[in-house]
Amino acid sequence: MTEPTLAEVDQTVKTWLKASRALVLQRMTTPLNVDEKTGRKDLVTNVDKENERLLVSKIRAFSPDSQVLGEEGFGDSVTDTTGWVWVVDPIDGTMNFVKQRDHFAMMIALYIDGRGVLGYIYDVMANVLYSGGPSLGVFKNDQPLTKPANLALRDGLVAISGPLITEQQMNMPEVVRQSAGLRAYGSAGIEFSHMLTGELITYVSYLKPWDFGAGKILAETLGLRVTRVDGTPLSMLSSDFVMVATEKAQQDILPIIG
Ligand code: IPD
Ligand code: CA
Ligand code: CA
Ligand code: CA
Repeated sequence: MTEPTLAEVDQTVKTWLKASRALVLQRMTTPLNVDEKTGRKDLVTNVDKENERLLVSKIRAFSPDSQVLGEEGFGDSVTDTTGWVWVVDPIDGTMNFVKQRDHFAMMIALYIDGRGVLGYIYDVMANVLYSGGPSLGVFKNDQPLTKPANLALRDGLVAISGPLITEQQMNMPEVVRQSAGLRAYGSAGIEFSHMLTGELITYVSYLKPWDFGAGKILAETLGLRVTRVDGTPLSMLSSDFVMVATEKAQQDILPIIG
């Protein structure tokens, strides 16, 4: 069988996401089954699990030689990045999903031999899909996105995860003080999407590979920096403190958190 083109893969992934959205909306009409994972702030629902199973089964049927890294454990235990590696977060922002029934996303990324190729962030309730990659460009639904303005820290809004502020880690309160203001959304996917549109100039959080896999591809395609918090490269198989930033905001922030 000849390998599909990236444009064909892109169209296929979009059909999966539309089907998953329909599933999630249907499941939201009945009570959620909510469990704690590591504690009361780390939740998983029947919908997270069912949607991951659905997406993993579609990926396996479409691309049987791939590896799949999924948050809820229905994929493979991925230890190397050779070949096609799909990264799946079936519901990003589960706390928002449970408490707000809004402001959550689905995310899928495709890496080939460690290179980010395609990324998808689907804001489910807004029905807005951010998609693309280095060879396609980045789209908000069907509209191509252009590079966000390269704003300095003092000129833009920052999103920094709650624990980094409440625990006053890495001098983050000073980063907020020097910025135009703090925003917090509770979904890495939604936060990445606001970076893509230029509504935020930095996002800092401790993240797992499925939290940043798709956003990294889309953000880097638009010229944003996606690194460890000290500015060094991320590993796509490791959890880390991640900083997404415009080039100027990164230059301003690195000496502050030094
Ligand atoms: C979480 C959200 C949250 C971030 C956490 C993630 P989940 O993802 O993206 O905003 O602060 O670190 O784990 O668990 O809801 O998919
Ligand atoms: Ca989770
Ligand atoms: Ca997540
Ligand atoms: Ca999740």
